[in-house]
Amino acid sequence: MENLTTGSNTCLVGLQWGDEGKGKIVDILTESFDVVVRYQGGSNAGHTVVINNEKFVLHLIPSGILRKNKWCVIGSGVALDPGQLLEEIGELRKKNIEVSGNLRISELAHLVFPYHKKFDELSESEKGDEKIGTTRRGIGPCYTDKMARNGIRVADLYHPDHFRQRLKKVVEEKNKILVRLYDAEALSWKDIYETYCEYAEQIRPFVCNTVVFMADAVKAKKKILFEGAQGSLLDVDFGTYPFITSSSVTAGGAAVGAGISPRQIHKVLGIMKSYTTRVGSGPFPSELNDALGEYLRKKGGEYGATTGRPRRCGWFDAVAVKHAIMVNGVDSAVLTKLDVLDEQRTIKICVGYTFGDKAYDLFPPDLAARSECQPIYKEVPGWLRDTSKMRDRNDIPSQAKNYIDTLEKILGIPVEMLSVGPDRGQVVNLV
Ligand code: GDP
Ligand code: IMO
Ligand code: MG
Repeated sequence: MENLTTGSNTCLVGLQWGDEGKGKIVDILTESFDVVVRYQGGSNAGHTVVINNEKFVLHLIPSGILRKNKWCVIGSGVALDPGQLLEEIGELRKKNIEVSGNLRISELAHLVFPYHKKFDELSESEKGDEKIGTTRRGIGPCYTDKMARNGIRVADLYHPDHFRQRLKKVVEEKNKILVRLYDAEALSWKDIYETYCEYAEQIRPFVCNTVVFMADAVKAKKKILFEGAQGSLLDVDFGTYPFITSSSVTAGGAAVGAGISPRQIHKVLGIMKSYTTRVGSGPFPSELNDALGEYLRKKGGEYGATTGRPRRCGWFDAVAVKHAIMVNGVDSAVLTKLDVLDEQRTIKICVGYTFGDKAYDLFPPDLAARSECQPIYKEVPGWLRDTSKMRDRNDIPSQAKNYIDTLEKILGIPVEMLSVGPDRGQVVNLV
C-alpha cells in the first residue's frame, strides 16, 4: 500500500452521499498508519469492515480499531453519544477486539443527549413530506446546541456540580419547547444526570486532551489517517442543502475537527462508489427508480449500516463527484464496488444536467430547488465478467479498464485502487 500512503498524513473523504466504502478502505490503509482520527459526524455514520467473512460495523470508533497497535482518536468535532459508544465498545470486545488504551476521546467533543434525539425525531415529523430523512441519532440538534453555545462537552462530565447545574438549565429550557410547542412529554434532568454520570465513569479511561495527543503524534512523526464520515454531498456548506448532515464533512473539516494544523494534512484521498447511492431525502438526478435501481440495491447490499433503510441507487454522477473533488482538493481516488456492475451490458455516467432548456456541467449550488433536473449520460460498454476474484491489475477486463479510464479523464484525478468486494482482501492496486 506504499503508493497510497507514502510519507503523508492522509485525509480520506467520501465523494458522494455517504456509504462509499470508507470503512473498508480505512481498515486497509490503517496497516500503514499509526493514528486514525474521526473528526466529524457521530453515530449517524455506519462504516463496515469485513475480515474473513466476519462483519464489523463502526459508528463512532475509527475503523482503524480492528488493527493491533494503532491509536484511534475521536476528535473534538465529533458529536459523541456515550451510550452508543459504550455499546460499540462492548460489541467489539465480544469479538475479541481490543479497546483500551488504544482509544482516545477528546474532552472537547460535544455530547449527544436524549433531548437531541427527541428533537431530531420531532423536527422530522413536523416537516412531513419535506423531511430530511435523518438517522435520528440527534446529530443536527447536538450541533445546533454547539453553535448556539448551549452544548455540554465531555470535559463537563468530570465537574459534577457544574454539569448538574448546566444540564438542569438546558433540560428545563428544552422541556418548555417539548411541552409547549410539541405537546410532548417533559424529560427528567435527574434521570439524564444519573445516566450520564455513569457513562462518565465508564468512558473516563479514554478521555484525554486530544489536541496535545495529536500535537505529540505530529512531533513524533507518527502517520495520521483522518477518517471522514458521511459524504461530501452531505456537507453542511457544500452539500445539497438542506438535505445534508450538520457537520463539515470535507477535508477542511478534518483540521478543525481533529484539532490539528491544516498543514499536517498532506494528501486527500477520495472514496467513490462505481455507481451512486443516497439514504434519506434530497436531490439525486441520476437515481434509477426502476428494476435496475432495485437490482443495484440487491446486488450491492444497499441497506443502511446504521438504520437498515434501503438506499436509493443510480448511475455514477460525475458532475456531483467533480464538485466534491474541487471542494476537497482530492489528489486521487479509490473506486469501490466495481463488482456490483459486473452484469451490466451498458454502463451510464452522468456528465451533465439539463434544467429547463439549459444544460449544466457544473454542480448547481441550488440543486435542491431544481427537482426537475435531468441527467445527461455518456454510455460505455460493460464487461460482463466476475471481477470479485480479481487481485491483479493485469486481470482487469478491457471494458472495465475503459470505464475507469473514462472516469479518470472526466474527473481529472487518478484512481489508485479498486475495491471488488466487501472483504479486506478484495482490492486491486492500480499504481
Ligand atoms: P461507509 O459508510 O462509506 O464505510 O460504507 P458502508 O459500510 O455504509 O457501506 C458500504 C457497503 O458496501 C458495506 O456493506 C461494505 O461491506 C460493502 N462494500 C465495501 N466495498 C465493497 C466492494 O468493493 N464491493 C461490494 N460488493 N461491497 C463492498
Ligand atoms: P457514513 O459515514 C449515508 C444522511 C441521512 C440523511 C442526512 C442527515 O456511513 O457514510 P443526520 O442523521 O446526519 O442528521 O442525517 O444525512 N446520512 C448519511 N447517509 N451515510 C452516512 O454516513 C450518513 N450519515 C448521515 O440519511 O439523509
Ligand atoms: Mg455507511
